[in-house]
Amino acid sequence: MYRAPRGTADILPREQTYRHYIMANAVRLCQLYGYEQIDTPTFEDTGLFVRSVGAETDIVQKEMYTFEDKGGHSITLRPEGTAPVCRAYLEHGLHNLPQPVKLYYTAAIFRYERPQAGRFREHHQFGYEAIGEADPALDAEVIDMAWQFFTSLGLKNLSLNLNSIGCQDCRPQYLATLKEYYTEHTADLCRDCKDRLARNPLRLLDCKNPPCQEIAIAAPKSIDYLCPPCDEHFLKLGKYLNLLELPFKINHRLVRGLDYYTRTVFEIQPATAAGSQSAIGGGGRYDNLIAELGGKPTPAIGFATGIERIILNLKQQDVPIPDPAKPPVYIAHLGDEARDVAIKLAATLRQNGTGVIEAFGKKSLKAQLRQANSLGAHYAVIIGEDEVKANTAVLRDMTTSEQKSIPIDQLAEWLP
Ligand code: HAM
Repeated sequence: MYRAPRGTADILPREQTYRHYIMANAVRLCQLYGYEQIDTPTFEDTGLFVRSVGAETDIVQKEMYTFEDKGGHSITLRPEGTAPVCRAYLEHGLHNLPQPVKLYYTAAIFRYERPQAGRFREHHQFGYEAIGEADPALDAEVIDMAWQFFTSLGLKNLSLNLNSIGCQDCRPQYLATLKEYYTEHTADLCRDCKDRLARNPLRLLDCKNPPCQEIAIAAPKSIDYLCPPCDEHFLKLGKYLNLLELPFKINHRLVRGLDYYTRTVFEIQPATAAGSQSAIGGGGRYDNLIAELGGKPTPAIGFATGIERIILNLKQQDVPIPDPAKPPVYIAHLGDEARDVAIKLAATLRQNGTGVIEAFGKKSLKAQLRQANSLGAHYAVIIGEDEVKANTAVLRDMTTSEQKSIPIDQLAEWLP
């Protein structure tokens, strides 16, 4: 027996109810904030992700599904959605449109991680990117949209974490100070952090090991090292978020796992969750990325959230999800002639816009009605030998068990 590969999941109809609910809200929000949809390929040239996500990140070092295709090209299954959107922005000359260009996507994302609750090797993200604008008012709008999205889904007890990690000008000094601080604590760091100290010091701050977390508490804070323009950006953003009455907290240890961020970074976490692994969504500014990929310097900011993690939280919080519409009519029949009538009737009703479930095989009337009930049909239409002769059908309201006989050509008028 084959099973779905480790870290992947089949999405059965009962899960689709959640997805439809989530995506209906997502699309509504995108319309309200002026985002248009973009789809990019499932795989890209490996270099795109190495360049953008960063050669020293966990994603690039350990988690990418990279392979050589039959033409000898190195291909990688998309481990995140921002770089492909930036690639498309450049490839299609979207800088010629009014800026910022606002794009959203839903995409399968592939990361070779250790599977656990809420962490998969294939997951799905809803994300959006606003490219071509540096105004901190855009940061506030992007963060507001993320917050309104989770609120509109009915999720509660979320916390909004914010930080600024500066820019090319001010970060080097901060990193030097951070390294100095951590060098004094090398002996107490976990093995991964000893490695991070040399390769990616920012990531020391969000290590999940308790001894490393202790050390991170007193570590130098990036916001104390911002250059004047970054400082002003961060102050204005804070002011706008206050105007919007968003309950944000500054989290000095929030650094995110992708290297392309500049200035604003933010994450939304369930209040009960420990560590940034359990973030339900995150994003930030990436003002250098488009230039890094060969374009003109173009400021940008975006956000993405994992749909499986949203579902997990909706379930944990017992959020009621609207039931999807079920076909309202079940057609039951007894005998060969009745079945012929049923087949034609089902086609006629559907053409009329009524959802119909047909009975198949040769089940007893009782079994057919039981099935109608379990499928949630509001009405059953019953056709037996007498009805065939009289050109009628019995219409049964499944909720009240009331029945009446109706001429078959008038049935459509009685049905939704
Ligand atoms: P990210 O924080 O790596 O950001 O991923 C975004 C969200 O995807 C996470 O907050 C989480 O909900 C979900 N997620 C990540 N990994 C997994 C996994 N293995 N299993 C299930 N869910 C997962 C990005 O990918 C950036 N591209 C976000 C962004 C957009 N920044 C700017 N624009």
